[in-house]
Formats: sequence, C-alpha cells, structure tokens
Amino acid sequence: MVDTQIKWHKDLPHDIVVIDASHLSDIDTTGIFEDSRLLVIDNIDWGDLDEIRAAVPLREREFKTSFTKTPIPKKIIPHLRIIARQFNDLFLSLYPNYWATEVTSSFRPMITNNEPMHFDTFELPHPAPTAFLNFDTKPRIWRTSYTIQALCEKFPAEMRGLVERVEKERQVNAHRNLSSVLRKNTLKDWSPLDSRAPYHEIHFPQGSVVICNPKNVSHQIYYGRGAYGYSWHLDQGGGLLQEEIVDQCLS
Ligand SMILES: [Fe+2]
Repeated sequence: MVDTQIKWHKDLPHDIVVIDASHLSDIDTTGIFEDSRLLVIDNIDWGDLDEIRAAVPLREREFKTSFTKTPIPKKIIPHLRIIARQFNDLFLSLYPNYWATEVTSSFRPMITNNEPMHFDTFELPHPAPTAFLNFDTKPRIWRTSYTIQALCEKFPAEMRGLVERVEKERQVNAHRNLSSVLRKNTLKDWSPLDSRAPYHEIHFPQGSVVICNPKNVSHQIYYGRGAYGYSWHLDQGGGLLQEEIVDQCLS
C-alpha cells in the first residue's frame, strides 16, 4: 500500500482530491473537472511496474529539463496496452459527461528536475484531461499553483489585459493562447508563475496517478524519474476554453 503525501500552501485553495483505488466507485466526481481540481489515485493494480522502470536503465535516463519523445522499448508494449485499457476505464468512469475525439500517450522515462511552473500548451484549444502514472520507485514530485480561475480572482485586471493581448496576437499566430503568454519569460511586468508563486507540493509514489486538466491547473515537475502520460482531447462541447473561463470569472 502506498500513500501520496501533500504539503499544502495556506494561500491556495485545497483543490486536490486524493483517493485510494478501493474507494474509487464511492466518490462523486461531479464538478472535479469543471472546477479544475486535481485528482490523485493511489494503489491501482497496474501489474509489476518495475518491468517498465527497468526497460530503460537509469544511466540512460539523462537529465532533461523538459519532456522529449522517447521510443518505447518493444518488450513493455503488452504491459503498456494493459495500462492504457485501465486509463481509458478511468476516463469513462471519472468523466461520464465528456467524449474524447483523440487520445495521446507519452512514455517519459527521463529524469526531470525543477521545470518551470506552467499551464500546458497543446495546439488543440479544447481541454484535455491528462493522467500521469509514476512508474519509478522514487516519488514523483509535482508542484501546483494557481488555476486559471484563481488567477482571475486574484489578478482580474491583468487577466483581462492578457486575454486582449492573446486575441491580438492570434491574428498573427493562430495557436497563441493564454498558456503560452503566461510563461514567465513572456511577461515583463507581471509574472504570476515565477519562483515567488505559492504552491502545493505533491509526492506521489510508484503506482499512483495524478489526473487534471493541465491547461487550467498550473504545475511543474519538481522531480521525477519516469512517468507514463495519457491525454484525452475533448470534442468541441467538452468544457470551457481558457478564455471562456476568464470571461465567466470576470463577468
Ligand atoms: Fe505540463
């Protein structure tokens, strides 16, 4: 049995839900997605994850500050297929009102250390609930800071200005979005996700999984040695876009 540990920050909402897999069917998931809460599930039976961990020796998992595509060793494909089926069962049970038009997976055996706090940027604009399974024996350490909603509550004028800026920049670059301008090197005068941002710190052990919409929950991998990620890209009716959340919060 493993347990995720969280160091909470007093100035942020406690918007992380930790549950044991044995209680998965008992929880009411209504609103978890819409409210940008993050879910952690401990003790799902994935089989022997050391098989996946050992497929790429530690000496080859060189340090990377960010994720890059790594080929999947053939011998672990049967195991990853079983995990993918479990992931899809999770999606169907956790988000009964949503449909995914596309699914992407990523095998991330590399060591990641202290990446910047950010919101994810995918080219597709719609929300994409994403799950990360820690397959390494060392806990994976995530930090989460403001959600888009929390930024709107705390910094309404700045967020209104940003939406206007994104709309202008999108005339030149169709993929421009709030995530891309909120990266700390893009903003000169106001940088809410820089090193002074408050954060909760989540230590999730081997076999635990975190699920959230990383376009609406700012996060950084503070330390991690191996994860398997799975994203469900929702169709056009699938949840609010970042700008729509801002409009809703500030209206
Ligand atoms: Fe990310």
